[in-house]
Amino acid sequence: MRFGHFDDSHKEYVITTPKTPYPWINYLGNENFFGLVSHQGGGYCFYRDARLRRLTRYRYNNVPTDSGGRYFYINEGGDTWTPTFMPMKKELDFFECRHGLGYTKVTGRRNGLRAEVLYFVPLGETAEVHQVTLKNEGTAAKKLKLFSFIEFCLWNAHDDATNFQRNFSTGEVEVEGSTIYHKTEYRERRDHFAFYHVNATVAGFDTDRESFIGLYNGFGDPDVPCAGESKNTVASGWSPVASHGLDVTLAPGEEKTFVFLLGYVENPRAEKWEKPGVINKQRAKALIAKFSSTEQVNAALGKLREHWNGLLSNYAIESGDEKLNRMVNIWNPYQCMVTFNMSRSASYFESGIGRGMGFRDSNQDLLGFVHLVPERARERIIDIASTQFADGSAYHQYQPLTKRGNNDVGSGFNDDPLWLILGVSAYIKETGDYGILDEQVPFDNDPNNQASLLEHLKRSFDHVSHNLGPHGLPLIGRADWNDCLNLNCFSETPDEPFQTTGNRTGRTAESVFIAGMFVHIGPEYAKIAEYKGQADEAKRALSEVAKMEKTVLEHGWDGEWFLRAYDFFGKKIGSKDCPEGDSQILIEPQGYCVMAGIGVATGEAKKALDSVKERLDTRYGIVLNNPPYRDYHVELGEISSYPPGYKENAGIFCHNNPWVMIAETVIGRGERAFEYYKKIAPAYIEDISEIHRTEPYVYSQMIAGKDAVHHGEAKNSWLTGTAAWNFVAISQHLLGVRPEWDGLCVKPCIGSEVPEFTITRKCRGATYRIHVKSLGGTGKVKLKVDGKAIEGDLVPYAKAGSTVNIECEAS
Ligand code: BGC
Ligand code: NOJ
Repeated sequence: MRFGHFDDSHKEYVITTPKTPYPWINYLGNENFFGLVSHQGGGYCFYRDARLRRLTRYRYNNVPTDSGGRYFYINEGGDTWTPTFMPMKKELDFFECRHGLGYTKVTGRRNGLRAEVLYFVPLGETAEVHQVTLKNEGTAAKKLKLFSFIEFCLWNAHDDATNFQRNFSTGEVEVEGSTIYHKTEYRERRDHFAFYHVNATVAGFDTDRESFIGLYNGFGDPDVPCAGESKNTVASGWSPVASHGLDVTLAPGEEKTFVFLLGYVENPRAEKWEKPGVINKQRAKALIAKFSSTEQVNAALGKLREHWNGLLSNYAIESGDEKLNRMVNIWNPYQCMVTFNMSRSASYFESGIGRGMGFRDSNQDLLGFVHLVPERARERIIDIASTQFADGSAYHQYQPLTKRGNNDVGSGFNDDPLWLILGVSAYIKETGDYGILDEQVPFDNDPNNQASLLEHLKRSFDHVSHNLGPHGLPLIGRADWNDCLNLNCFSETPDEPFQTTGNRTGRTAESVFIAGMFVHIGPEYAKIAEYKGQADEAKRALSEVAKMEKTVLEHGWDGEWFLRAYDFFGKKIGSKDCPEGDSQILIEPQGYCVMAGIGVATGEAKKALDSVKERLDTRYGIVLNNPPYRDYHVELGEISSYPPGYKENAGIFCHNNPWVMIAETVIGRGERAFEYYKKIAPAYIEDISEIHRTEPYVYSQMIAGKDAVHHGEAKNSWLTGTAAWNFVAISQHLLGVRPEWDGLCVKPCIGSEVPEFTITRKCRGATYRIHVKSLGGTGKVKLKVDGKAIEGDLVPYAKAGSTVNIECEAS
């Protein structure tokens, strides 16, 4: 069942009923100011850091769900309603929400009054525009009241939700004309304030929540809108809000537009006050002046559209499959940019007060956006590498505001260092900027201890080879990619974290997955060393890689698939020999080892992927492990804590499904790769939205697996490495266009279901137009470059500014 449809010409998803199976959200903002907005106007906004600079309040896991947002109440002759449906839930005779790239437009109609609310953050600004257009579609004149409403958060979102003994006494506002200023804590250490403005004369205003809503009411039956009269309250303590009351008259057919602006301003400390106790509002007024007319708003929206069109033109496909086109051209790269901006901080599943930026996550996210914003990818790489330790290990997370490593979580996730090599090589292949390798980058942010980025990569590589276990496989540490496989933690009590409880220090638990990564990523390091003239170092790296490949086949092969790991006691994990009730096969090494080419020549790769098909594939995607763990295993940790079928315990982890897709292309089975792709790509499963429940335009981290009660139900949409890896799989491996060290590789492997397509790829300043006839999915190609046949699948990089025409026949 669908709850809307794609409008590809506008790059929008159009939701046609407010009653979706879950709130379906969008993101506003590009640089510093961000907002989350649901199709019902729910959500919140923040400046840079979702925890420390939260502007508006949102209550997670609330009843009813998704309450709190930027609301507009209309009172026409005593009938009060909200065009976003929530929070008043009055029946509408028309509802539509258009989620576009960086903006959302919600329209509701009742009693012949059409109300449209457009939300977006103009490029480069620290404010959200809420533009409200009211149109009288009836035959009689209308007289109505319009009330805006937002609730301020007292900046630190964690404190705001917990420290009530203080917070109920600190709230302060100022009101001047049509602008409400939120200045809680401005008198002391904060040099910032927020404001909410409307470009019209107000009939009244409110800033005290209790007065506006009524102590025993909710957002759905607030006193002021229902009574139709603002109370002109000035908040003192408790919960400051901002509401403008406007009198509106509309002749039949008449339309009026109001521009509301919700902004954030920082003042230099010396310029904080206009006079004692009164905020210096100059900067706020300058910002307001930029968005006080519809023309200004339309121009800003136009710029935002241009911005996105520009970004998305770097990789575009035209094919006969509209679902494929919309994933590749619009929604998948859009989600990649959102993961770039948010990391894992703020979504409807991440509260914005928890995790910082992940070392592993950020490197993988980069794979999905490096072709969109290479300069920002460069900056990100330096930030990430600066949190690495001198021995090559890394803080697992760092804080976005300070860019410092997070001590609470610490290090010891032994896959982390290798992701840095992958991120850097993706960046260099995209840009040709080898200069980044010479950048001096600190260890642990210590300016007195730094080395070239190249040296950082060497330490990443060596961290693996310096930390091998009894079988010669890499030690897993606290965990590898699977944060929930905690082989040295032995957590017995519920009051400690699974991952950072280290009651054993073991040098026995080993990861076949990290071994696969080493074989996949190690050669990239060798290539980099070679490029820097270090032929011996490149040779050394390759010989370590070859040794690891042998070790995997010797100690990491289980007969029909790759083993997952050895635990603290040296027992196999993910083996046919594991006892009943335990998992016998896990997905990660199957995908990753084959991606690395392990066992391709000798048949293990094919066997492993056949086992994936047989044991892990379901109608909704590939589960992480099978059978699921039935009981909690103290020696395995969090993986066995989840009920069967959810999350890391046999959920469909959409992040590593693409590894299997890529692996299938490695052994020349493009059709199967595409079959896997379509099972989890949101546009292809739009028709089962009632089962899937999360947004049909973005990936979710997890879909409940076949052992779960709610098989097919997704959770954790938006902020997941799934976005980047699926983009890599489809764009670089199935459609087969990827920047390599010495040229653009063109090697489609998708099969004849997409028989013909054209890709436009911009890379290093040149444009490649690639026309593909896809006759089969084996990954074999014949290429003609500007009319001339070439050997192999590598098109030499062309001069910036040039256009290269490529004909490709893929069999
Ligand atoms: C989740 C993982 C996640 C980890 C982060 C776990 O509870 O299941 O998906 O990576 O938390 O710390
Ligand atoms: C989510 C985390 O963000 C990611 O780093 C991890 O690899 C997966 N979960 C799997 O545990």
